[in-house]
Amino acid sequence: MKHAEIVAWLKEARPEALSELWQLADQLRHERVGDEVHLRGLVEFSNHCRRGCAYCGLRLARKEIERYRMSRREIMACAHEAVRRGYGSLVLQSGEDPGIPAEWIASLVSQVKSETPLAITLSLGERPLTDYQLWRDAGADRYLLRFETSDKKLYHRIHPELTGLPDRISLLRALKQMGFETGSGIMVGIPGQDYESIARDLELMRELDLDMIGLGPFVPHGDTPLARRPENFPPATRQVPATGLMACKVLALARLLRPDANIPSTTALATLDGERGRAAGLRRGANVLMPNLTPEHYRKAYQIYPEKAFLSDEGGSGGLAAWLETLGRVAGKGPGGRCGLARRAS
Ligand code: 5AD
Repeated sequence: MKHAEIVAWLKEARPEALSELWQLADQLRHERVGDEVHLRGLVEFSNHCRRGCAYCGLRLARKEIERYRMSRREIMACAHEAVRRGYGSLVLQSGEDPGIPAEWIASLVSQVKSETPLAITLSLGERPLTDYQLWRDAGADRYLLRFETSDKKLYHRIHPELTGLPDRISLLRALKQMGFETGSGIMVGIPGQDYESIARDLELMRELDLDMIGLGPFVPHGDTPLARRPENFPPATRQVPATGLMACKVLALARLLRPDANIPSTTALATLDGERGRAAGLRRGANVLMPNLTPEHYRKAYQIYPEKAFLSDEGGSGGLAAWLETLGRVAGKGPGGRCGLARRAS
């Protein structure tokens, strides 16, 4: 698909045309990754963060939030809960927390691998390549690191400080080189983001040959610098709206451009539009859900954005599996890695 065509889809507003886009994405999803919806148990195990991202509720400057780190024992309990519920993989996510040594993570990864059949996805932000390699050697299968926007100026505006590490695009290429299944993605509707910019993001997702693509609408967090468009922000001549509909267009296009990627229907989609948003994602290209396994008292302190919805799966009229059936889908079995990639011998 050419750049101009991507831009045209992003700007499309006619309902008949949009239903054609949904159908194309849903059909391709069905053909390339099937009707299984892979369930990844999400554990938000630390909300400490050294960064000052202008949009994020966990940014360092927010002194009023209670910071926590879950213990190894607590995290292992979540891993076993994931197995009990029949999930194929575990996503270990945290802020950028230098207080957690790379060796500690490596040893946690080894323990999960030795006690469970789960695939492990790490989402711990920017770290030195030697840390990533250590985790890979310990058995981690996948790494998620959203590039958020491919527009360098906008990126630097919302990520004010440098880390001294290579940029995220270089980190993603390195992660892939190490043999991680690699995931990335963006926020849709960041103040200052226009349609051209999102079209380039989608082209970059294709170029990076991402195994996983995560995206959702930007949800303003009142106590961050990006809550309102700051005065020094450039006018995006055609500001992309931060809506569920817009995010669905980007999701459907991501499916068209990366047909065999694993794409979740994300929490941010559900935050704006509730269960309807989550179902819409699954009908418009997504094939993954990430039920939250973080214990409730910690989850409350992991407010990346306000009213963060979470997907629970605690039974109730058959739980998630039953809900998926109402959409004509089935809960996935096994680790649910990228189709066509050879499984690693373990
Ligand atoms: N609105 C929407 N998504 C957000 N994220 C962080 N802050 C927000 C926000 N205010 C997303 C980023 C990050 C992921 C963990 O959550 O894309 O990579």
